[in-house]
Amino acid sequence: MKIVLGADHAGCALKNAAKEYLLKRDIDVIDLGVGSDDEPVDYSDIGIKAAEMVAAGESDRGILSCGTGIGMSIAANKVRGAYAALCTDSFMAKMSRLHNNANILVLGGRVVSVERALEMVGVWLDTPFEGGRHFRRIEKIRAYENKDIEGNGSHSKGRLVIMDHPLIQHKLGIIRNTSTSVKEFRELVEEIAGLMVYEITRDLPVEEIEVETPLAKTRAKTISGKKMAVVPVLRAGLGMVQGILKLIPNAKVGHIGVYRDPTTLQPVEYYCKLPGDIEERDILIVDPMLATGGSSVLAIDLVKRRGGKKVSLVCLIGAPEGLQKVKEAHPDVDIYMAALDDHLDEHGYIVPGLGDAGDRLFGTK
Ligand code: RB5
Repeated sequence: MKIVLGADHAGCALKNAAKEYLLKRDIDVIDLGVGSDDEPVDYSDIGIKAAEMVAAGESDRGILSCGTGIGMSIAANKVRGAYAALCTDSFMAKMSRLHNNANILVLGGRVVSVERALEMVGVWLDTPFEGGRHFRRIEKIRAYENKDIEGNGSHSKGRLVIMDHPLIQHKLGIIRNTSTSVKEFRELVEEIAGLMVYEITRDLPVEEIEVETPLAKTRAKTISGKKMAVVPVLRAGLGMVQGILKLIPNAKVGHIGVYRDPTTLQPVEYYCKLPGDIEERDILIVDPMLATGGSSVLAIDLVKRRGGKKVSLVCLIGAPEGLQKVKEAHPDVDIYMAALDDHLDEHGYIVPGLGDAGDRLFGTK
């Protein structure tokens, strides 16, 4: 493990003590200073720099201190991917790992003694993240952080985007309702899939072309770059395909069939037919429900094994358990969903969810 340390003049003593403690534990440190307490510096510079290093993976975690810890935590938390926790005792330090998965510990040099600070550092280092419902909460923060990179041409991979567009949310509310008819359910799943893809494709590259209107020649835009493929996971994924094809009629469609082995409970492939040029396409794997994540992980595996490179997963509703599984197995895949729900019940259904999407789409129950 590598830890970046940073402090201003008021936090310098704590930082130096923490450094000594970490080195004794054979932990690598990067010391951003400040070197002594009579060297006044702005905590903001050091806090931001350290947080950037943690967010970029140049350091696994960070420990920051200033007089109160407040300035450092405000500065660090402005950096996307930094989760800085200002703690004043070991209980807070422990909870900041268990529940918040904090990657930066912030201490106040004028608030806690060196002795207490070192005790906190020890607890903080040795406490793992608990996951479960806390994972869902952190993912919501992460999704919020990613909101503004949705449309600005950024192609960071492995994003979770929760699409909170009012129309998507309104329609999702209707399909959740148990009394919505099969006909309406089917139409709305199609519409939601279309609205989601409208948002997802806002980064597609365009190029200028010349066209002739009835009045004059002008420059217009056309979509350039890679072609798309839509790959529904059978059978519920089929319900999303038409809504997407209405917007991207030239997309090719692959199909993946997966069932769950009743004895091993593991997902098993029974069908996989993908476009021949799949490696050249942007691929949207569609499945309305991301429940345990087993079939999504397998579907992504199958697509990648056949050469798929830029793969995204589009679902209507996800459970934290499934999301975690997909993120662990395929950290490079962008995941788009309309809602991240609470949990799975003992039968693997998403709660509150909308029931079995396949049955509701095809009227089989
Ligand atoms: C420095 O005197 C002090 O303002 C600073 O260390 C800190 O308390 C900021 O939050």
